[in-house]
Amino acid sequence: MVHEPRSSNTPVPPRGEGLLRSLVAEQYRAGFISAARIQALTAERGLTRAHIEGVIDFYSFLHLEDVGRFRILFSDNIIERMQGNRALAEHLCRRLGSPLGEVRADGRVSIDYTSCIGMSDQGPSLLVNGHAIPSLDVETLDRIASRVEANTPLTEWPQEWFEIPLNIRKKGLLLANEHGDGDAVNALLSSSPTAILAKLEGAGLRGRGGAGFATAAKWRLCRDAPVTQPNQRVVICNADEGEPGTFKDRVLLQGYAERLFDGMTLCAGVIGADRGIVYLRGEYRYLLAPLQASLERRRRAGLLGRRIGGRAGFDFEIEIELGAGAYICGEESSLIESLEGKRGNPRNRPPFPVTRGYLGRPTVINNVATFIAAAMIAAREEGWFRGEGTEQSSGSKLLSIAGDCDHPGVYEYPFGTPIDQILEACGARQTQAVQIAGAAGHLLPPAQFDRTIAFEDVATGGSFMIFNESRDLLEVVRNFADFFAHESCGFCTPCRVGTTLIQQNLTKIGDGRGSRWDLETLRRIGALMRNTSQCGLGATAPSAMFDLLDHFEVVDKRLHSDEFEPAFDLDAALQEARQATGRDDPGAHL
Ligand SMILES: Cc1cc2nc3c(=O)[nH]c(=O)nc-3n(C[C@H](O)[C@H](O)[C@H](O)COP(=O)(O)O)c2cc1C
Ligand code: SF4
Repeated sequence: MVHEPRSSNTPVPPRGEGLLRSLVAEQYRAGFISAARIQALTAERGLTRAHIEGVIDFYSFLHLEDVGRFRILFSDNIIERMQGNRALAEHLCRRLGSPLGEVRADGRVSIDYTSCIGMSDQGPSLLVNGHAIPSLDVETLDRIASRVEANTPLTEWPQEWFEIPLNIRKKGLLLANEHGDGDAVNALLSSSPTAILAKLEGAGLRGRGGAGFATAAKWRLCRDAPVTQPNQRVVICNADEGEPGTFKDRVLLQGYAERLFDGMTLCAGVIGADRGIVYLRGEYRYLLAPLQASLERRRRAGLLGRRIGGRAGFDFEIEIELGAGAYICGEESSLIESLEGKRGNPRNRPPFPVTRGYLGRPTVINNVATFIAAAMIAAREEGWFRGEGTEQSSGSKLLSIAGDCDHPGVYEYPFGTPIDQILEACGARQTQAVQIAGAAGHLLPPAQFDRTIAFEDVATGGSFMIFNESRDLLEVVRNFADFFAHESCGFCTPCRVGTTLIQQNLTKIGDGRGSRWDLETLRRIGALMRNTSQCGLGATAPSAMFDLLDHFEVVDKRLHSDEFEPAFDLDAALQEARQATGRDDPGAHL
């Protein structure tokens, strides 16, 4: 393990750009990144070995040692646990004689867990060498094991295993309406950037990535930011969707990529950008080839490249960069750090990306769904988008619905739709709680199911996880705590230490050793994290825990006592000594 000193807003390393791409390519080519390859990269790029090893250390999909010819990663979030992923992973480990988390002695295979891979509507699921296989059962795993034992290349595995249905259950404003490949670009060419900005502003479009910042305002700030050369600005699509339980961006990238690219090109024309990047989460690597084919079609159609639509000076290209398994890189400044070839630690702000973003250039970063909505608004009459939703949340919201319901999948609802209406539509019964906006969001009890999906009420990036009365909500929230303890980038102390303390305290209560003191500790740590964390991850990590304490009785019922209970079980720790001395009499216990 390598630790390099961490600092925020570190300068762009010489030739750091594209480093992650080189490392990901090498990881998939060789199964690891060798000392020789690191040496070559230091020479090629003028980077130190410590820098490159520090980057490798940061991303969970990059390794300094070989992870085997077949790298199998079971998706592990609370929904996939409910779907039985753990028993299936154990089955495959047994079947292949490959201990979990280790490379099999012959180097053929390794099996492990990874955070949510965006497949909660069709889990349990896994990634094998970056390719997703959904809807797993024992039979499929046995057939996978046979192929691994026979050393059959992935290209010769049954291709239907890798087919991932879109699973759209309800289409609304965006998904039910047609959009031609260049409709937004043509709308721009036949009007003007200021007219498009006015249209987006009139539509009241707000970012779909979670925070809900006004899109027209973001684009305008970037357009107004000074540059030294024309069109030096950058458009980035945040396709790093890593919130547990979320998968709507995967569906949009699979089925609606043309609209996304149309929206990014529109943005480029409005703000004056010549460069576009889609930051695609490593878990969606299997979408790379179809997305690149789609970009190639646009180039051939004159919708990308030089003189777009025949207009001199409208030059714009889009490239796709893969992430490598770090949830924090969905945070916009971490994403930029990652693209610049660094560890994905969030930056201090200001400056914000709109004035100083990728490589110091003014940069717009938007979610996949935001670019699609912008493209469709630009191509339509005024008022179209405002016709749905609420005053503060116009338009519709794509929800990734999963958990205890008959019909998981993607649903598009107008903003302002009540939660109980959504629960009924997806076939949820005896619902004990709904977790909205992923692990960082809120755990709502039935008394709040009359609330609505809207920025001014229950805001969400799209995740909607349902738990019926059979579920242990303490275990649900403990699972979220595990996630944050794992995904905290470690840059600031409140989050690095706080996420681990919350995880430990919830585990202690779950194990039947909790007391009222622990509740106080949880609240104190949670408040500290909310107020002092460097970025949104630390600030929102305690949200579900607070909801659990405030709206449910499960924790109170599990408390062992009102008195202080040490976290450390001294009596249990003495067991080894008792065994060694052959004593088990009362005097050998505390
Ligand atoms: C920990 C963390 C993870 C995030 N992950 C994502 C993500 O996966 N996708 C996304 O669009 N925004 C994500 N965001 C929000 C981005 O920082 C940013 O606000 C967003 O991409 C802006 O796009 P929008 O205006 O279209 O919403 C995340 C924020 C935080 C704090
Ligand atoms: S809040 Fe957490 S994720 Fe964000 S900078 Fe601090 S340690 Fe990193």
